[in-house]
This record gives sequence, C-alpha cells and structure tokens, in this order.
Amino acid sequence: MSFPSERPRRLRRTGRLRALVRETRVVPEQLVYPLFVAPGRGLRREISSLPGCFHLSADEAAREAEKVERLGIGGVILFGLPEAKDPLGSEGYSEDGVVQQAVRTIRASCSELVVMTDVCLCEYTSHGHCGVVEDGEVKNDPTLELLARMAVSHARAGAHVLAPSDMMDGRVAAIRTALDAEGYSELPILSYAAKYASAFYGPFREAADSAPQFGDRRGYQMDPANVREALREVRLDVEEGADIVMVKPALPYLDVIRAVHERFDRPVAAYNVSGEYAMVKAAAERGWVDEERIVKETLNAIRRAGADIILTYHAKDFAAWAREGR
Ligand code: PBG
Repeated sequence: MSFPSERPRRLRRTGRLRALVRETRVVPEQLVYPLFVAPGRGLRREISSLPGCFHLSADEAAREAEKVERLGIGGVILFGLPEAKDPLGSEGYSEDGVVQQAVRTIRASCSELVVMTDVCLCEYTSHGHCGVVEDGEVKNDPTLELLARMAVSHARAGAHVLAPSDMMDGRVAAIRTALDAEGYSELPILSYAAKYASAFYGPFREAADSAPQFGDRRGYQMDPANVREALREVRLDVEEGADIVMVKPALPYLDVIRAVHERFDRPVAAYNVSGEYAMVKAAAERGWVDEERIVKETLNAIRRAGADIILTYHAKDFAAWAREGR
C-alpha cells in the first residue's frame, strides 16, 4: 500500500491530533537545573557567559531552588566556587565548603527537589585540573581518595545523588565503597561516564572559574571522535556501581546517547552543556532564532536519542513555557 492510499499528512491536520501521535515528550520532571553556589550572603550575580544564570550564595541558592521546585523541575545539580583554591582542592571536601552549606540550606527549604552534587576537584584546585597534579601530570590513583572524601562530605550534608565528573579511572568504585562504608548505601551515583574533551564547556569554565592553568583535559576526558570507547567507559562505570550513566555534551553526541540507551539497562542522562546554551542565547538575543522553539526542538532531540534525564540551563525557561501551555 502506498500513495494515494498512504497519506501521512492525515495525522498532522490538527494540534490535538498531532499530540495524540507524538512519540516523544519532554516534561519538566525529567530536567535538572545547574546552580553555581558561592560564598557570602544575599549574593545573586548574573553570570556573563550564561545569561539568565546566577552565582548564588547558599541563602539565595535555596530561594532559587524553591522556584525550581515550584516549576516542577526534577532536580538541581550544584557546582561550587570556593573561598580559596589550593593544589589539592581541599575546600571541595570540607564540611563547611560552599556546596556542603548550600546542600543543607536547599534541603531545609525544598522537600521534593532532587539535590545532586557535582563531584570533581577542578573548581577547587589552584591549577584547575580535575585531579592531583604531580610532576606536571594529573595522577589518577591519588585523586580517587579525594573524590571519595568529597562524595562522603556531600552525602553528610544531605545530597540525594552524587555525580562524579572528573573522568579518573576507578572513581565510581572508590566513591561507592566510601559511601557504603559511611552508611550511605542507599545514595545513587550518576556518573559522567562518557564525558568528552569538549570546546562546548567554555562558558562553564568562566562561570565556575575552573579552566586548567596549564595544558588541557585531553589526558582524562574522551576524544570527541570515539563512540566505541564511550561504551567501554559506560560498561566500566556500570560494573563499578553507577546507577545512572551520563553522556556529555548532548547535542553533538546524540549518536552516543542512542548507543548507550540501546546497550545498557541503566537510566541515561545527557548534559546539554554551557556552550550549547550560550549559543542559543546569543543567537536568540540577536533575533536570529526563536528561542522557545529552538529549546523545545533541542530537548526533544536529546530525549528522542534516548536520554531519560536532561541536565540543562534551559530548565526554568522550559518549565515556565510548559506551564503556560504553549
Ligand atoms: C567539572 C565539570 C565541567 C562541566 C561539568 N562539570 C567542566 C569541565 O570538565 O571542564 C561542564 C558543564 C558545562 O559546560 O555546562 N569537571
């Protein structure tokens, strides 16, 4: 059977009809909104590289999280700008670090929101690398203990999900073991399993002041040309105990999201990163694209590729549009 009896346009005639046959949906509950927390009180400063996103002190982060919760968004993920940096990133695992404080204030004011924390040293180290640096190299194994300490300190503060983003080998196992030993066996790990050495992180590094002071991250983050290697990374993280696996960035790696979705029986997250967001914002400001339609199409594409969860700076805008029923 084909034309003239086959006519796909029959199902595109009205909005309600199109909605009935729609294959993919994006709802705010599937989104996670990143927050950048900083020391102080009453601080709410717009991030120049991420228009519409703010550096927030813990009290302001709690107010922002309340708004995010009211919008029906699934969760937040916290990144920290510490008071001071040092070679071992010690503020990252201090009980009174910026993220630990913000987790406590957010937990005190939000009852439903899932509070995730990014577990990585780069925001806290003076050299800006994601691990311990010795002889000009980022050392894998000495980093694991620090990451495990950071995860435990976030768990003590009340984090619901720990999300390691450093790309050291073996860090999921190290974090799982440490959490279990401290009595946090119920807390899930969302691992940034396939994280690429990407130029799309540019605006984030300005926002988090986390650019490496020498070299780059290609010795630990993945080569953008590889997809089979991503499956290996995901397999290793699943074997080590990852509960959710993430692909990052999202839009340039839809094929990777699809491959991970097909091969693994774990929820898949995708990070629609800072560069993806900033490009949309910049073009929309110039009137070159329709922001709302671009964002909806983008998030839909990421879902269609196979992501269950999307981390995105567009989360609040998307949820507000969804609420208006547009
Ligand atoms: C920390 C980290 C980065 C991002 C999330 N966690 C930066 C990096 O690896 O350099 C990037 C997020 C974004 O660009 O939105 N390792």
